[in-house]
Amino acid sequence: MKILIVHGPNLNLLGERNPKQYGTESLTDLNSHIRENYGKDHTLKFFQSNSEGAIVDCLHEERYWADSIVINPGALTHYSYVLRDAIEAVELPCVEVHLSDIANREEFRKISVITPVCIGQVKGKGFDSYVEGIQMLMEHTQ
Ligand code: DQA
Repeated sequence: MKILIVHGPNLNLLGERNPKQYGTESLTDLNSHIRENYGKDHTLKFFQSNSEGAIVDCLHEERYWADSIVINPGALTHYSYVLRDAIEAVELPCVEVHLSDIANREEFRKISVITPVCIGQVKGKGFDSYVEGIQMLMEHTQ
């Protein structure tokens, strides 16, 4: 499977940013963790941007390359109908992932406008949210 892995705004600061919520390891460490688990059996492409438009462009550009998507939309999760529509438009199975447990944080984080266009959501498991997200995609496409 060709899997596009998208990291949204501020995830480039992983390791420095709010380590109590997001841990002390970097985005490079996260991508290595995903690669260690799935790099042999799947073709992985990683993308990170702090810009909503760049993420939408990436989804459009990769829509014929990718078989499926794992996305951590960062704070876009909670309000971006633009991103929601882009995920719906590309018509690929998509799993929404979060490092932290967004259901047990501030009120605004409890809402996801992305979930309805995804096949599932994995949250609160740190780096393993991504690993479980890919597992979910594999079960979905089998
Ligand atoms: C996050 C949770 C979001 O609420 C937050 O804005 C992020 C990271 C997570 O991975 O837990 O940037 O998506």
